[in-house]
Amino acid sequence: MPIESRLFVKTALVALVVTFCWGAWMALEESVGRSVNPIWAIEHAHLAFVGWLVNMVIGFALWLLPLNRERFPDTQGRYFRWMPLTIYLLLNGGLIARILSEPAVASSAVARLALGASAVMQVCAILLFIKLAWLRTRRPSHPAKGVR
Ligand code: HEM
Repeated sequence: MPIESRLFVKTALVALVVTFCWGAWMALEESVGRSVNPIWAIEHAHLAFVGWLVNMVIGFALWLLPLNRERFPDTQGRYFRWMPLTIYLLLNGGLIARILSEPAVASSAVARLALGASAVMQVCAILLFIKLAWLRTRRPSHPAKGVR
């Protein structure tokens, strides 16, 4: 598994642990009758879906999608070298910016700016990933008999 995939997968695993601990903390608070601010449930859900699920999917896709050697000759068909790290920084930087800023949007102009930036960063990350994945979702270069 290439280093870029390992970076995404290990980040996903860390996010899973934090998601579970965060969820357990909220459940424990509720179990003793204390209420949890609903914003923490929303940030927990973002960490779970973007931090765990999306990082895991991207990590495996970078590794397993068919190679496109004509398009990406320098990496034996995987991607342009700058692509995975750019996706990683936009996705996870955007996720952290969102988790830190969203609870404070009502009271802070900086938080509002950070939340807006996080939205743009995460959309750019996913568009770049889609471009990469699109170029590698292709028919086999030497299809076996009966395979289209
Ligand atoms: C990958 C695993 C998980 C995913 C995808 C996930 C997803 C979610 C989602 C979508 C919500 C609703 C957020 C909202 O209200 O907007 C939520 C809330 C919550 N989750 Fe998780 N969760 C995960 C793991 C856990 C675990 C392991 C625990 C507990 C040990 C947990 C405890 C909670 C609690 C207490 C809430 C708040 C419920 C409330 O509104 O009072 N979650 N989670």
